[in-house]
Amino acid sequence: MTHTFPHKHLLGIERLSVSDISAILERAAAYAVQNRSHQRKNNRLAGKTVANLFFEPSTRTRTSFQLAAQRLGADVVNLDIQFSSTKKGETLLDTVRTVDAMQVDAFVIRHHENGVPELIAQHVQASVLNAGDGSHEHPTQALLDALTMQQRKGRLEGLTVAICGDIEHSRVARSNIHLLNKFGAKVRIMGPAQFMPHDLATLGVEAFDNMNDGLRGVDVAMMLRIQHERLADGEFAISLKDYHERYGLTHDKLKVAKPDVIVMHPAPMNRGVEITDELADDPQYSVIFKQIENGVAVRMAALDLLQGTD
Ligand code: CP
Repeated sequence: MTHTFPHKHLLGIERLSVSDISAILERAAAYAVQNRSHQRKNNRLAGKTVANLFFEPSTRTRTSFQLAAQRLGADVVNLDIQFSSTKKGETLLDTVRTVDAMQVDAFVIRHHENGVPELIAQHVQASVLNAGDGSHEHPTQALLDALTMQQRKGRLEGLTVAICGDIEHSRVARSNIHLLNKFGAKVRIMGPAQFMPHDLATLGVEAFDNMNDGLRGVDVAMMLRIQHERLADGEFAISLKDYHERYGLTHDKLKVAKPDVIVMHPAPMNRGVEITDELADDPQYSVIFKQIENGVAVRMAALDLLQGTD
């Protein structure tokens, strides 16, 4: 494994080159194989410490970053924000600088405000990995999605990928759009008008307001949940039943896609809203749990490239 990764932090996909992304995906592909073997651990980060600071809930990202660091031989600290001194009025930066002073090597940061990982990166000596900031970016999610597409489709270039749902509030959509555009895939987005991104014209995607047109001939259908936590009370006026009828993915709606289409979802899923139970669990189409599995490999690769010594 040789690659000199020219970044100290992983803050977003937008600023990475194709060669940077390829380096992460190549290493992640190797770790995906290793994670299926009996020898899942190595010592590439022995002696290093990774601190998880999650200011928003998470199941997949937090657990997989922890497993990734442990499989590389690092120590892991999970700061429990609910019981931290932020509750006594300490500022975010003082909290982070406090942990930084304890000589950690990498921070994994999730925060509800756009740009917080970048702000933290300017004030600490450790590497910072963005585990999702507001509606801005979720780079390791896009990387694990790309790895899953490569495994199932053999390539990213030339794929047509439809992303459906609450695009405006989705950091997953944004990071995926940046990555797929860099690799020459075609990206379509679809959903109700209120979920279309405010900067649609600059994103390099094709927008559809109905699934019959948006899903026609696609290689990948990526479903997103409605991010109720980023919507004001009463802002989402459609009933969940009506939403499911118009924008929920079903076996029937998927018939216009390519016969070998794959169905993706970053999860957490709201079954019966953006995707049916049957489709989420249909092994012919759904790669949702493979995405989750690949999350560990991608986070191992990212930590390794930022902190390992080649
Ligand atoms: N996909 C994702 O980021 O899931 P979590 O919120 O559970 O980490």
